[in-house]
Amino acid sequence: MYGMSSSEVEIEPCRGEFIAQLAELWKEYIVDQGDDPLHQYFDLKASMEGFRRILEGYMKKEPGGFLVATAGDEVVGFAVSFRDAFSPNYVTKGRIGQIQIVHTKRGFRRRGIATKLVNAALGYLEENGCSIILAETGEKNTGSLRMLEKLDFYERGKLVTLIKKV
Ligand SMILES: CC(C)(COP(=O)(O)OP(=O)(O)OC[C@H]1O[C@@H](n2cnc3c(N)ncnc32)[C@H](O)[C@@H]1OP(=O)(O)O)[C@@H](O)C(=O)NCCC(=O)NCCS
Repeated sequence: MYGMSSSEVEIEPCRGEFIAQLAELWKEYIVDQGDDPLHQYFDLKASMEGFRRILEGYMKKEPGGFLVATAGDEVVGFAVSFRDAFSPNYVTKGRIGQIQIVHTKRGFRRRGIATKLVNAALGYLEENGCSIILAETGEKNTGSLRMLEKLDFYERGKLVTLIKKV
């Protein structure tokens, strides 16, 4: 696939046959978001079956929001989005959607695939009535931040997550 450009990549809703490849990408995603002191406590190999279940859960919950980037038979990225970022207990003025995850496979980055996935997710969310879209990423995840800022996302605030060993 050397020399492939994002124009050869197709974005389509997730199908069951992609789940095995996506579980591998999920493992990559956990690691590649950036250094995290929690990583050492995860057994990624033993979690593979669980990752497949997570992905099947997303497919069931909101199939149209689960988008996959393919180059031929290879899955080279995915995005998960939801048309409702908040439960129906919240009454909002305008629908608030969310792009939960964007991931491009190692070896396929910097070719516009994540941009294409996010644009497709935005299209899906807009078609479904969203007027505000949320996304979150680690403060040190410069690649992801730049990619989203280029698409006119701007900082809402910083969430600090803490950890304590007992
Ligand atoms: C972040 C990530 C999704 C970007 O995917 P990608 O397909 O490489 O992104 P794109 O090619 O669409 O990049 C678009 C722009 O974002 C910026 N960008 C992307 N990756 C970057 C990096 N590592 N460093 C700096 N800028 C970066 C660039 O401005 C880029 O445009 P350019 O290549 O013309 O300079 C990918 O690196 C990834 O999967 N990382 C691991 C998972 C993750 O962190 N996901 C986000 C949190 S949910």
